[in-house]
Amino acid sequence: MKFFIDTANLDQIREAQDLGVLDGVTTNPSLMAKEGITGRNNILKHYVAICNIVDGDVSAEVIATDYEGMIKEGEELAELHDQIVVKIPMIKDGIKAIKYFSDHGIRTNCTLVFSAGQALLAAKAGATYMSPFIGRLDDISTDGLNLIAEIRLIYDNYGFETQILAASVRHTMHVIECAKIGADVMTGPLSSIEGLLKHPLTDIGLAKFLEDYNKGN
Ligand code: E4P
Repeated sequence: MKFFIDTANLDQIREAQDLGVLDGVTTNPSLMAKEGITGRNNILKHYVAICNIVDGDVSAEVIATDYEGMIKEGEELAELHDQIVVKIPMIKDGIKAIKYFSDHGIRTNCTLVFSAGQALLAAKAGATYMSPFIGRLDDISTDGLNLIAEIRLIYDNYGFETQILAASVRHTMHVIECAKIGADVMTGPLSSIEGLLKHPLTDIGLAKFLEDYNKGN
C-alpha cells in the first residue's frame, strides 16, 4: 500500500518524507489556499517545491471545468515536473480529459469520486489513480469504507489497472481498514500516518527495557 500525504504544507511534507515511508503527495485548491498559496505562478512554483522534497507522485488539480481548459491546464501542469499527476474532477468533461491524457501518456488522478459507478467510469477512461473520498461520505452517514470495498471488487473483476487512492482519510483506523480492503494507496494528514506508530505497550515496554539496562550500568 502506498502512503501519500494530503497537504500542501512543505514542513509536513518534509517530516513525512524524512520518516522514509512516503510515496507521494496529494493537493487540492483548498489545501493550497490553506497555505496561503495564491496566484497561478505561485501555485505552479509550489508544485515544483513539493516535487523537489518527495520521491513520488504529486497530484496537482486543474481549475478549469471544461474539456479544452482541462487539457490546456493539465498539459501545463504535467510539463512542470515528471512527478506531477494531473488531478481531474469526476465530471463529464473530466472523463473526456482523462481519456485524452491517458492516450497521450499523461498520468491522472480522478478526484471527487463518491460512487462505484463513477469509479468504473474513471477506470474505463484510463485514470492512473481514482480518489474516493471516504471521510466526506462518513460525514454524511454513508460508509466510505464500503465504497472502497465495492470498487476493489469491481476493479478486480475486470483487471482494471487504475489504482484505488483512498482519499479524505481522516484518521489512523481509516488507513488500517483501507489496507485490509486492499486500497492501492491512501492519502491522509500526517497524523493518520504517525498514528500507526502508537501503542501504549510499546512505550511501556521500551521504558522497562531502558530501566533494566540502566540498573546494570
Ligand atoms: C485528496 O486528494 C482529496 O482532495 C482530499 O483527501 C480531500 O480531503 P478532505 O475531505 O479532508 O478535504
